[in-house]
Order: sequence, then C-alpha cells, then structure tokens
Amino acid sequence: MTYSKIAGTGRYLPERVLTNFDLEKIVETSDEWIRTRTGVERRHVCADDETTSDMCVEAAKVAIEDAGIDVSDIDFVIVGTTTPDLIFPNIATLIQHRLGIPACTAFSLEAACTGFIYALTTTDKFIKAGGTKCALVIGAECITKLVDWKDRNTCVLFGDGAGAVIVKPSDEAGIISCHLGADGQYKELLYYPVGASKDLHKAGTDDVAITMKGNEVFKVAVKTLGNVAKAALDAAGIDKSELDWLIPHQANMRIIQATAKRLGLPLDKVIVTVQDHGNTSAASVPMAFDVGIRDGRIQRGQLVLMEAFGGGFTWGSVLMRY
Ligand code: UT7
Repeated sequence: MTYSKIAGTGRYLPERVLTNFDLEKIVETSDEWIRTRTGVERRHVCADDETTSDMCVEAAKVAIEDAGIDVSDIDFVIVGTTTPDLIFPNIATLIQHRLGIPACTAFSLEAACTGFIYALTTTDKFIKAGGTKCALVIGAECITKLVDWKDRNTCVLFGDGAGAVIVKPSDEAGIISCHLGADGQYKELLYYPVGASKDLHKAGTDDVAITMKGNEVFKVAVKTLGNVAKAALDAAGIDKSELDWLIPHQANMRIIQATAKRLGLPLDKVIVTVQDHGNTSAASVPMAFDVGIRDGRIQRGQLVLMEAFGGGFTWGSVLMRY
C-alpha cells in the first residue's frame, strides 16, 4: 500500500510583532481580556509590501532543505489560502516559478482556516492515485490585511504566517485517514464581504473587513472539532488513547482545551502556538506542526492528529504516523 509521508517541514513568520500591549494603544482592549478570552499574547504582522507568496517562498525553502530534496524533484504544488497575492494567476504558480520548480501541477484552494487540511487531504489523494512523487503543500495567510484595525472584536485575534510541508509516497505508514466537511448555512457567522465577482471596488474601504459573530462561531467550532477528530480516529480503528499529539487549529485557547478534553488528551500532548502566533487561519496547523517537530516534541513514528475549523463553515482532520 502507498502512503503519503511527510518528508520535511518549514515555517515563516513576518518580522513585525504586535503584542497585546501594542493593541491596547489602538483599540479599547486589554492584555488581560485578550489573554483570558483567547490565549493570544502576540502575533506577527506582514509589512505593507509583504505578500502571502513572499511568506510561502520562505517557508517552502526551509521545508525543501529539511526534506533534503532539490526543487527539481517537486512535481505538485498546492496552497491553502484565502489571501492570495492576486485573483489570478493562482498563488501556487507564483511560488512554483519563484522557487525554480519545473512546470508541474500547481493550484490553490480556499477553505478559510481549514485550507491546509484541505490541501494536505487533496495531496494524499493525488499521491495515492499515483503519478505525484513529491508535493509541496502550504498553508499561508496574510489575514491581517483583511482586518478592520478599529474593530476590537476581530483585530486582536489574527496574525500572519506560512507553514509548508514536503509530502512523498512511502511504503511506511504516513497519512492514515482524512476527513473533510463543510456547511454553507453558517456563512453569515464568519465572512469577508467582497470578492472577485462581488463588490470588488469596495475592497480596502472602511466598511469592508472580516465579519464574525465570535461566540456563535465558538459553539459550533467546539462541537464540530470534537466530531471530526473522532471521525478520523474511528475510520482508522484507532483509540484516542493511542494518540501522541494533537495539532489543533490555533483560533482560541479555550477551543483547544475543549477539544483536547473531548479526546481525553492532557494539554502537554497538544501543540499550542496561539500565544505567539494568534489565529493565522490556514497557516496555523502547518506552523504548529513545524514548531512541535523542530523543538523535538514530535518524533518519527508517532501518531499525530491535525484538525481545523473555519469560515464556511469548513472543517477537517488528518490522522498520520509522522
Ligand atoms: O478561526 C476561525 C474560527 N474562529 C473562531 O474559532 C473564533 C471563535 N470565537 C472566539 O474565539 C471568541 O468568541 C472570541 C475570542 C472572538 C470572543 O470571546 P467571547 O468570550 O465569545 O466574547 P464575546 O464576543 O461574547 O464578547 C464579550 C464581551 C462583549 O462586551 P459586552 O457586550 O459583554 O459588554 C464584547 O464587546 O467582550 C467585549 N469584547 C472585548 N473587550 C475587550 C470583545 N472584544 C473585546 C476586546 N477587548 N478585544
């Protein structure tokens, strides 16, 4: 049987760091409120001239080196993001060209905070179907450019970044099960109001920014993440007690704690980066994965469960032997 196996990881965070204390000077908030309600202490923010593809290229370089491959080995590039540089060409083609990857399959997909889980699941299908030998899979977001910096309900939550993995076919166990879901009935709870075919001319104006009913999103997120984590384990016939690591989407520490509790996992088996990264949307899971690997916590052969939830709503989980 062919598995998809992670061969290398990398991440990139913009240089500029914005602390909760910095935000106290911008909106009516406090470090105490932000920390206790969300767990966030600081976040990285793109420079005005820094784009999502800039971050992707840096994260990808690290992952390529970590995997010990050459750019010419890569035959598949996929990016989960809702903040591409351009409407077209798709951001994966920009990255393919900038890295000097030979012409290959390159596309992006949009699933809000679940973007990386959707991209990794798609890659797994391509690898298992045969033909794809070396994939560059990225989750990245320049989400702070969509935020209204006068809206304390949202501006304290988000941060920018990119996480990348190299995935290759292997006879040894790698990705074991993937579960994706979406339900558009929840659109009004979390959305960005303009796009390529709707009111594009209003983008960048004061009325247009991320719109979220935070506490309603919270409730659905907790329930759905518990279910999708269980679905990945059940499909693989693996008991939650066998899990070594949970790598959750980093939206809110209280959501992370609730999911860990439902899985019966102590928090020291959960990779948590929300305090340093904030909610980086599609970048949060691959960056947390990279953090856990590089600081030596996640070891080869261990059982890892990734999960995410975001606008749409979309949700997903990936269970793998690292
Ligand atoms: O990643 C994609 C999915 N997104 C999520 O998963 C986000 C899910 N939601 C959340 O994480 C939480 O709902 C938030 C962190 C967004 C908000 O926390 P909450 O405990 O649900 O607070 P709330 O929205 O119910 O607001 C409570 C109070 C309100 O004041 P009143 O009406 O009680 O007087 C808000 O106006 O807190 C106020 N508030 C703030 N106060 C200080 C809202 N934002 C702030 C702030 N600083 N930044």
